[in-house]
Amino acid sequence: MASIAFLQSLLHNPGSVVATLVTIGLIHALGKGLYNVFFHPLRSFPGPTLHAMSRIPYCWKLLRGTMPYDVLDLHEEYGDVVRIAPDELAFSNSTAWKEIMGHRPGVEEFGKLKNFYRPVEASPVNIVNAERDEHSVLRRQLAHGFSEKSMRDQEPLIKVYIDLLIQRLHENCAAGAQAINLTAWYNWTTFDIIGDLAFGEPFGCLQNSEYHPYVHLIFESARAGTIFQSVGFYPLLNKLFWALIPKAALGRFVRQTKLSMEKLQRRMEPGNERSDLIEGLLLKKEELVKKNLTMENLQSNGNILIIGGSETTATLLSGVTYLLLSNPHVLERLTKEVRSTFKNEKEITMTSVNQLTYMLACLNEALRVYPPVPTGLPRVVPSEGRTVLGRYVPPKTIVALHHWALYHNEKHFTDPDLYNPERFLGDPRYANDDFDILQPFNVGPRNCLGRNLAYVEMRMILARVIFNFDMKIAEESKGWMERQKIYLFWQKGPLHVHLTPVSK
Ligand code: HEM
Repeated sequence: MASIAFLQSLLHNPGSVVATLVTIGLIHALGKGLYNVFFHPLRSFPGPTLHAMSRIPYCWKLLRGTMPYDVLDLHEEYGDVVRIAPDELAFSNSTAWKEIMGHRPGVEEFGKLKNFYRPVEASPVNIVNAERDEHSVLRRQLAHGFSEKSMRDQEPLIKVYIDLLIQRLHENCAAGAQAINLTAWYNWTTFDIIGDLAFGEPFGCLQNSEYHPYVHLIFESARAGTIFQSVGFYPLLNKLFWALIPKAALGRFVRQTKLSMEKLQRRMEPGNERSDLIEGLLLKKEELVKKNLTMENLQSNGNILIIGGSETTATLLSGVTYLLLSNPHVLERLTKEVRSTFKNEKEITMTSVNQLTYMLACLNEALRVYPPVPTGLPRVVPSEGRTVLGRYVPPKTIVALHHWALYHNEKHFTDPDLYNPERFLGDPRYANDDFDILQPFNVGPRNCLGRNLAYVEMRMILARVIFNFDMKIAEESKGWMERQKIYLFWQKGPLHVHLTPVSK
């Protein structure tokens, strides 16, 4: 009776309903927070108390776009293993790469965190979000398009877009009088290349000197991704969130899906067979259909290739250009290497760029200073728990290694914030660097499938740009790298550079 009376009084006074709910919520949160600090299986791992109590500080850093910087601070304060959320640990040690991401026959892999990789339950399966068995099938099939032979077949197509980039840069550079935004030009090039290799048609970015709406959508989704990810940690909020998202907001996704579906259908028409990245999936279509691979899966895999294969490579190209322009002695040495190795542009090929040893060091040092995937890629400890760095980690714990934080830690690299390619060429000052920790393409069975393609593109594009132009950074782009936030990808902003054609 008393409880009915209590309920009735609440209904007559909505203000008190809210106050009561808030109080219950706070008591629950406080109770859970205290449990997390004093009784949770991860209680003995070091880290800030607020992070141990609640997921909120983690989400706050994620949404603010500063997570990798914050994780570095935490490693510097607490060591190689830090509890960055009640059920999450960050590791900063090269052995942890193998222990978390590596493959051991017959041993269950660490799974991928669902609300990071597949926040929308109904979304189609692709190589990145697939579970282990489905992943092996997709990986085997897609690997075909990344083989050495396929890449040699793809070289003429890649070259078409690099030629177009160089042509368009000449048309737009005004002999160095006017700075141009190289971030955009690099993005347009890699999106056109991968668009063609994954869906059989480019986006026309280079031709039109503008981002295709699909490319815009990818950038916007990356930022929204931090919201999806944060909300995903709270199941009730997550349900509400997805129920409330208006259909109109998803409309652009639906339209783009339809467009790429049409492209895919054209690519699949008889007579359009060719060596590209999607070929491996299409070759064995009947077999894959038996394994439930639908057009949606094909399209989703095409999308993943575009997202994974263009933004990353373009980011590194922007990053290495900025770092070269900020370190003129490095740019000078690289320019000498490129211009003395090749007599004319035609000599710059997929094979011949392998001779550029200093360029390789420049690219690897840029991957360290400015990794295109700067964040941690979260994995989940399997059912029986695992030992990582000699300590037992209970099942369901989320674990990650945060790329940027690893590579800027003084414990692993001498002068970690300096850009110095000599590091990779045996300079004794860097003899104690831990090169095993540098894994910008990740480790193990789910590492980057496009690594070789990325190197080919980065080497050919950078060599062609340096062969053709002298570069000078525009005043407004000084400090370009230092100001950036990170929402899954770097929020790069324009990199304005004066390009002066080299007289030949
Ligand atoms: C500098 C450029 C690149 C970097 C730094 C990079 C980095 C990475 C990383 C860190 C992963 C692991 C993702 C995860 O575990 O969640 C990955 C996966 C992947 N990358 Fe790249 N990537 C680059 C270029 C490319 C290119 C050009 C392609 C070609 C389309 C590509 C295709 C893929 C694919 C298909 C996967 C998924 C592999 C799997 O799950 O089996 N990447 N990449």
